[in-house]
Amino acid sequence: MTAQLIDGNGLSRQLRTEVAQRAAALKARGTTPGLAVVLVGDNPASQVYVRNKVKACEDSGLHSVLEKYDATLTEAALLARVEALNEDPAIHGILVQLPLPAHIDAQKVIEAISPAKDVDGFHIASAGALMTGMPGFWPCTPYGCMKMLESIGYDLRGKHAVVIGRSNIVGKPMALMLLQKNATVTICHSATQDLKAHTLQADVIVAAVGKRNVLTADMVKPGAVVLDVGMNRNEEGKLCGDVDFDGVKEVAGYITPVPGGVGPMTITMLLVNTLEAAERAAGS
Ligand code: GUN
Repeated sequence: MTAQLIDGNGLSRQLRTEVAQRAAALKARGTTPGLAVVLVGDNPASQVYVRNKVKACEDSGLHSVLEKYDATLTEAALLARVEALNEDPAIHGILVQLPLPAHIDAQKVIEAISPAKDVDGFHIASAGALMTGMPGFWPCTPYGCMKMLESIGYDLRGKHAVVIGRSNIVGKPMALMLLQKNATVTICHSATQDLKAHTLQADVIVAAVGKRNVLTADMVKPGAVVLDVGMNRNEEGKLCGDVDFDGVKEVAGYITPVPGGVGPMTITMLLVNTLEAAERAAGS
């Protein structure tokens, strides 16, 4: 193995300690940061995710409430709950777990969240703020990737970053964050011709497709930084990313493992955003 590992667990521990310290300081001044997590239906993966989010809050001294609703909840009832949480002074961040049942318009629900409490960074106002370089909440997964690059002291100025994937949650905001740090950014996606020709030019590659082995060793320039956002299962049911880790680790300069890479950073940045929302609400 030639690549150095970027340890998402270790970095998360460090950042969560800082969150806990800032949360305690804010609490001492009378504001306990609070996150509301709303889950509709019984998607098994979502149940695990929301449980982890609530536990992470508890571990860092943040207040959290988990609101669980039956899959039959109407869109109007969910919008009413979001409105109530917007008005609740004990709640600084609101997260409505996706996916929502098909009869609910997810975008409508996201737009109902006050941008001041949009700790997922999914609201159009948050996306617009990121695009224009204004203050706002950044989506947690790409934000976590930026923290990982920061942790290795990586200067993106003038570097070529290739993002594979164009989702609103990861690919697009990731590209904007890299651009903000003066990288030259290429976004590749399912219609891209000759993905390898692009990735071979890259100093930084972010794989965010949701498909195994999208990036293999022959597609990576020696020394490149590879961030793997994928969360897939292999034939044995083992968690794996979008990157062929065993091959790519012999070529890359840095690489994030799965599990233990980008995954833990997503929840960590949710804590950071919630704390930030509480600090802003408290005027500090
Ligand atoms: N579903 C999967 N990931 C996420 C996330 O980061 N936020 C929300 N709200 N739903 C998700």
